[in-house]
Amino acid sequence: MAFPPAFLDELIARNPIEDVVGQYVQLKRSGANYFGLCPFHSEKTGSFSVAPNKQIYYCFGCHKGGGVINFIMDIENLSYPDAVRFLAKRAGLEVPEDDRYQSRYREQERLWKLCKDAARFFHQQLKSDAGKPGRAYLAGRGMDWQTVTKFGIGFAVDDWHTLENAMRKQGYTREELIAADLVGEREKDGRRYSYDRFTNRVMFPLIDVRGNVVGFAGRTLDANYQGRKYLNSKDTLIFNKRNFVFGMNLAKKSKQGRIILCEGPMDAIACHQFGFDCAVASQGTSLTQEQINIIGKYTDQVVMTFDSDFAGQNATQRAITMFEKAGISVRILRFEGAKDADEFLHKYGADRFSVLLEGSADQADYRLQSLKSQYDLSKDDQKVEFLKKAAVLISGFPNAIEREIYGAKAAEAAGITPDAMKLEISRAYKNRRRREQKKEEEKNLSPVTALQPAARGLRYDNIRSARAEEVVLRQVLRDASQFELLKDLPPEAFSAPVLGKAYAALRERYRAGHDVSLAVLQDFTPEELAHLTGVARANDEPVSEQALRDCAAAILEEHQKSQQGQGEDALRATLERMKNKKGYGG
Ligand code: UTP
Ligand code: MN
Repeated sequence: MAFPPAFLDELIARNPIEDVVGQYVQLKRSGANYFGLCPFHSEKTGSFSVAPNKQIYYCFGCHKGGGVINFIMDIENLSYPDAVRFLAKRAGLEVPEDDRYQSRYREQERLWKLCKDAARFFHQQLKSDAGKPGRAYLAGRGMDWQTVTKFGIGFAVDDWHTLENAMRKQGYTREELIAADLVGEREKDGRRYSYDRFTNRVMFPLIDVRGNVVGFAGRTLDANYQGRKYLNSKDTLIFNKRNFVFGMNLAKKSKQGRIILCEGPMDAIACHQFGFDCAVASQGTSLTQEQINIIGKYTDQVVMTFDSDFAGQNATQRAITMFEKAGISVRILRFEGAKDADEFLHKYGADRFSVLLEGSADQADYRLQSLKSQYDLSKDDQKVEFLKKAAVLISGFPNAIEREIYGAKAAEAAGITPDAMKLEISRAYKNRRRREQKKEEEKNLSPVTALQPAARGLRYDNIRSARAEEVVLRQVLRDASQFELLKDLPPEAFSAPVLGKAYAALRERYRAGHDVSLAVLQDFTPEELAHLTGVARANDEPVSEQALRDCAAAILEEHQKSQQGQGEDALRATLERMKNKKGYGG
């Protein structure tokens, strides 16, 4: 049987590939990836790599690659279903082979639909007469209507039953509304009362990276309100606040090359309105490891804009350490004359925000400080370790003067001479250069740029089309919502069967609202998966929507040509046959 997609998503999330592979291969981290000796062929230099962000492994030597399930199939010599059972056991998950689990996933799908319909309803309300207070509030905060629609913002009226009534009219049950945390229940005098959880609030739908509405944040309109300023959905079958990042569904498409991490939705939204479309919000101060993992999937560069009060500072320090452990470089933005990003942008505008964003003033200090705090410098062995790490860190600063200044600071902190530190930094600098060169070489050698797949059976017939097909696949793997642009591109138009097959499978997952990644593909041979992994890991820049459309057009054009070609061939063959017949006859 096929396993339910949502189960596979969870299986993969609970079996991080770096952990699973790490049990068989000694891995060393380098930047965002891990390297080691390939377990599938014998070698002395490590050509085997694991990319946690993409949840795939790949060997430059033998071109094996794939997701975590594939890895277990290969290394444990198991069939696909057995590899799934193996990993489920490892993560303490039950395998959904009975009806009870199937129904759990159906329930999930029902709640996604309910939340989407509720978001639509709140948005309609905002546009209607009843939404006047909400519109006035948003306008008062300087939000334009384009931004309102972009984020699907809505309004919950000041009444305890409006949402419940509307949703029940659409066929949802009270139980479902409670399960989605849209309605609450209370008992009084032996009677049960239900009430809408969100009332008199501006409603921000919480949309996950796959584009599903999974919950809501509601902000009260009332400045003197005694209760919570923001009310957020509690955890439900489809929402877990620990692994939710507000705005990631939009920011992941950004071409700005970094993520701006704000505290609240209002801040992230203001950033978008002012043109910074890479902003997201963690909703509150304590960033979780899961949120860091989500962000790390899309960027290795984060700018944090947390509050500068004491709690904010503490949270910031903690977050810096967590980001750095994940191989993500992080900078801190401090606002002078404003409390947060939202206020700053409305007060001083996008240009001054840009200046702050580009400046690197605090970065070096912060990073050095956070490194220092991880070591006890009164102990010799820790001091040595700190100096090594500091040298690596400082060697990465692009500016020689910066390297000099911070080298001296690190030396002082550890009580050694600046010259000794300088030596250490220049050694780290050379190592870094060597690594970068090696990476560059590897990239040039990768099978994608070599144009033909390594496995014979997968050879491309039509290079122009296959190239475009690779771009399309890479793009939808980065951002599945791009399938929307590809409505007119059927899998049948693909010239390379393996690419077409992957495209079809991913598109189906996207349509069903599931994670779109290679790691979850079923029914592919190891060679096919290895090849697809190679395609996915090519480090091309994301392409523009226009370029994507051009690729689709190229594929369709080549497809049409090949159909005509076939027609011509058939014609020629018929002619040939006729000629032969004549020959025989004559
Ligand atoms: P802030 O108090 O800094 O609010 O809380 P804010 O983001 O500036 O919101 P506005 O501008 O007043 O509308 C930061 C974040 O902490 C969470 C929210 O996600 C908020 O955006 N928070 C705050 C809550 O979840 N509940 C609260 O009652 C308050
Ligand atoms: Mn604010």
